[in-house]
Amino acid sequence: VTAEKGGFEHFMLKEIHEQPKAYRDTMRGRIDATGKRVILPELKLTHEQILNIRNIQIVACGTAYHAGLVGRNVIEQLVRIPVETDVASEYRYRSPIVTPETLVIVVSQSGETADTLAALREAKANGAHVLAITNVVGSSIARDADDVIATLAGPEIAVASTKAYTSQLIAFYLFGLYLAEVRGTQTPEAVTEIIQAMQELPEQLEGMLENSDSIKAYAEQIAHHEHLFFIGRGVDFAVAQEGSLKLKEISYIHSEAYPAGELKHGTLALIEEGIPVIALVTQESVYEKTVSNIKEVNARGADIMAITYEDHVSTLLKSVDQVFAIPKTLPLLTPALSVVPLQLLAYYASLARGNDVDKPRNLAKSVTVE
Ligand code: G6P
Repeated sequence: VTAEKGGFEHFMLKEIHEQPKAYRDTMRGRIDATGKRVILPELKLTHEQILNIRNIQIVACGTAYHAGLVGRNVIEQLVRIPVETDVASEYRYRSPIVTPETLVIVVSQSGETADTLAALREAKANGAHVLAITNVVGSSIARDADDVIATLAGPEIAVASTKAYTSQLIAFYLFGLYLAEVRGTQTPEAVTEIIQAMQELPEQLEGMLENSDSIKAYAEQIAHHEHLFFIGRGVDFAVAQEGSLKLKEISYIHSEAYPAGELKHGTLALIEEGIPVIALVTQESVYEKTVSNIKEVNARGADIMAITYEDHVSTLLKSVDQVFAIPKTLPLLTPALSVVPLQLLAYYASLARGNDVDKPRNLAKSVTVE
C-alpha cells in the first residue's frame, strides 16, 4: 500500500473507487443551473450540422469500443438517428460509408491509440465531422478531431480501464441529451428526468462500493474456473461484453459474453454442471425474456449469479444461485452502475489468482502501433 495509490493495494482498485468523483467531474459545468438542460459550450458542431446528421459511426478499441456499444444504444434511444459502432482496426479497412452528413465519434482514453487515430483520419478524409471523446485533451486524437468532449476521469494508470470507461458513458449521456434537445426528439420533462437520475449516480455508486463484499466472495469462488459466460439483452449485453473483457484481461479466465436470446443457437452446448454464468437483468422491457434464458442455463446445471434490481431479487433467486442488487435508475443509465460489480469481480478474481492486477501479461495501457 503506497501513498500514490491513495491507500489502496492497486491502482485499479483506487480507480474503481474514483468513479463517483469522475462522474461528478465529467458532468460539472455541463448541466445548466436549472438542471433541465445539457450545455456543451466546447462544441463547434453547429445546430444546423446537428439537424443535418443522417448517421453516426462510433469507432474505438477495447474498452472504449464497449463504451461505444452503450453509446449507440443511448443515441438511438434518445435521438432516433441510426448508429453503428465499430472497432477501429476493422472500420478503417472496410471502406465505411461516410458522407458530409455522417458524424463520426471516436472514443479513446489515451487519445493515442494508433488504430483509432487512423480511423479518425480516414473519416475526416471522407468528409465526416469527427467528435472525440477522450480523457487526454492534449492527445493526438484530441488535436486531430473537429470537436472534443473531455472525460474528466483523471489519469488512469491500471492497464484495465475502469473510470475512463464509465466517464465515457457519462459523456455519451450528455451528448445524447444535447442532440435530443437540438433535434427536439425528447420532451423537456423526459430530459429533466434523465438529468436528475444522472445526478444521483455518484451517490448510488458510493453506496454500491461500500457494500461489495459479496462480489469479493463470489470472485474467489470463480477464480478456480477456466471458463465462464456473461449473458444479457440490449445494454445488458453491451455491459456483459465489457465485464467479460475485464475478466479476461486481468484474471486470464476465459469468458464469453453472449446475447441471452442467442445462447440456444449454439453456445448452450457449452453449458454444463457447475459452469459459472453471470446474468445481467436490468432491462424491464426484456425482463421476462431474460429470465426464460436464465432458466435454460439453470436447467443445464449452471451456477448463476444475477445482477439486477432489489425488487427482482426474491423471484430471481428461484432460478439463480446468487444475486447482486444495484440501485434503481432509468433503463438507459443502468450501465453506469451495473458494470461496477463486474470490474470488482475481475479485480478480486485476478487477486485470488495471484496475478499482477495493474500490469497484466502481454497488454499495454496504450497501443500506439498498429
Ligand atoms: C489498450 C488497452 C485497453 C484499451 C485500449 C484502447 O489495448 O489495454 O484497456 O481499452 O487500448 O485504449 P484507448 O486509450 O484508445 O481508450
